[in-house]
Amino acid sequence: MTTEIEPKQQQLLLDHVDMRPVTGDLDEAILDRNAIVQLDPDHPGFRDREYRARRNQIAQLAMNYRPGDQIPDAPYTADEHRVWQTIWQALRPAHQKHACAEYLDSLKRLNFLEDHIPQLREVNEKVHAISGFRLEPVAGLVQPRVFLENLADGVFLCTQYIRHHSTPLYTPEPDVVHEIVGHGVTLASPKIAELNRLFGKAVKRTQTADALEKLSRVYWFTIEFGVLRETGSVKAYGTGLLSSAGELEEMHDAALRSFDLDAAASEAYDPTHYQPVLFCADSFDELYQTLREFLLNW
Ligand SMILES: [Fe+2]
Repeated sequence: MTTEIEPKQQQLLLDHVDMRPVTGDLDEAILDRNAIVQLDPDHPGFRDREYRARRNQIAQLAMNYRPGDQIPDAPYTADEHRVWQTIWQALRPAHQKHACAEYLDSLKRLNFLEDHIPQLREVNEKVHAISGFRLEPVAGLVQPRVFLENLADGVFLCTQYIRHHSTPLYTPEPDVVHEIVGHGVTLASPKIAELNRLFGKAVKRTQTADALEKLSRVYWFTIEFGVLRETGSVKAYGTGLLSSAGELEEMHDAALRSFDLDAAASEAYDPTHYQPVLFCADSFDELYQTLREFLLNW
């Protein structure tokens, strides 16, 4: 999801064709001239030329993609498949402890193999058959309004690259793990998919930047970082929580607020740290009914 853009992450946005003069290492210059993804100097993959080249290759696949085409497969390496395996070793037990039942049911429907990164094409076929949502590749972060308005048409824009293999449990930007394990799975829940569509329709009715900011915050505190009560415990349904074992462990230290969506619309957040405040619904049904009404009346 892409509403979590902050200034530093903005630097990761596509910056088509670097026009710096060819000096020094010729190979490096050629690589830079063909670069379409600019990584921040403290990005874990900044000094890995092979990773940067692959990021550019994957971004190019998305730039060549047109809606209705078959989604092109990304050329993941053995190192990157190992990143996926490492993440699953951490997430499997964390999901069993901290994920809500709706998520666990949806996860079973998608039935990921744990030894390799699923292709977006495969996940899209399953999600589309269940909820009608389509996952479409994008090269990088897109503007919040573009991202959110696509939801109205049942389109979820996904990045395909995976985080650098040196930091399997950390990514400074949304990657394919967040998109698939978080959003892909929750869009295989017809009710959560409906809420995503309603967000998109509400955004289309939103005129001012201030109102869009409020709605983006509600998206953040529900679809991205929502929690609810289930069988006496606090469980996650938010994609940012469910795609990070670290976030799932930390969520129990967050201050829980009642499920007041007007309050959520006014609550600022920092996407670069574990979330210190979460809005907690009393049940999945309360989440679904209350958020649905809120969006219909927006
Ligand atoms: Fe997201």
